[in-house]
Amino acid sequence: MIWVQLVFWFIYLDEESLFTSPAVGIEAYDMLGRTPDTIVASRPLKEGVIADYKATEAMLKYFINKALGGVHLFRPEVMVAVPGGITSTERRAVIDATIAAGAKAAYIIKEPIVAAIGADIPIGSASGHLIIDIGGGTAEMAILSLGGIVCSRSVRIGGNKLDKSIQEFTRRKYNLAIGERTAEEAKIEVGSATFLDKKLTMEVKGRDMISGLPKTIILTSDDVTEAIQDDLSGLIATLKEVLYDTPPELSADVMNKGMVLTGGTSQLRNMDQLFSKAIGVAAFVADDPVLCVVKGAGIALENLDAYKRSILATR
Ligand SMILES: Nc1ncnc2c1ncn2[C@@H]1O[C@H](COP(=O)(O)OP(=O)(O)OP(=O)(O)O)[C@@H](O)[C@H]1O
Ligand SMILES: [Mg+2]
Repeated sequence: MIWVQLVFWFIYLDEESLFTSPAVGIEAYDMLGRTPDTIVASRPLKEGVIADYKATEAMLKYFINKALGGVHLFRPEVMVAVPGGITSTERRAVIDATIAAGAKAAYIIKEPIVAAIGADIPIGSASGHLIIDIGGGTAEMAILSLGGIVCSRSVRIGGNKLDKSIQEFTRRKYNLAIGERTAEEAKIEVGSATFLDKKLTMEVKGRDMISGLPKTIILTSDDVTEAIQDDLSGLIATLKEVLYDTPPELSADVMNKGMVLTGGTSQLRNMDQLFSKAIGVAAFVADDPVLCVVKGAGIALENLDAYKRSILATR
């Protein structure tokens, strides 16, 4: 059995090389923004759903081969985590791509549920749990009880959106065009969800928008915090919507236990503080927040019976 979480860059030359010799993941990421015309850089998934079907299929095939070794005799069962807000058409595309990539069976499960399983939350209990998974493409927020989602929202605000906002900000404030990777580095290096008492700074290189020449500026943590204000407000507004829909007993549970944050973007400095301040409930970042979804998917696949109720579709 194997499990995958669908997130990766994929770089290839043409349709033929897509299945034979693509650069995947970190290797592809390192080429990002640096490819000549003859090379295609593709993000098979955007905002949690399939954006490029062929590339997604090739990527899954690559993962399956990597997990099972080059020559394998059996076809694996695959658990795929998808955003809570996925449509039935998008869901079908995920199943089709997984089967086409060589899986014997494909199970679909919603990300907030597997994130919670991976964060060691006892999702089967008759008690409300608030889980917030903020990844690259989307933020998923859900109240879970008895192994299911009671109410949830999925909003297309995640790390990639923050990177875009930082790029826009440097363009506006410093007349500096910077690449997506540079923006992400700045976010991780000096970014914070709240303004810091002790400012952090870093050098950022890009292209001056007026002269067209390379230029270096000093970017501060305040710059990043300011750049991502709208995105953070969007996240808080979404969380408030979820809480507004939450039945009172479960709200009381959340008050008592607090909320759990998972996903790469939950590692942004002070993300937990931002949420707990905004709604007055304690917030905790899970251990290994980036791995919660994939760990949870693995646990669900190995205990299919126990998590049967949480699985959305099977083929
Ligand atoms: N220390 C950090 N601070 C801020 N952001 C971070 C940090 N580390 C990783 N990230 C961001 O986390 C994001 C990736 O998170 P994750 O791996 O959970 O996303 P994903 O599961 O691929 O996306 P999605 O759940 O939307 O499909 C990236 O945007 C990355 O920039
Ligand atoms: Mg994710």
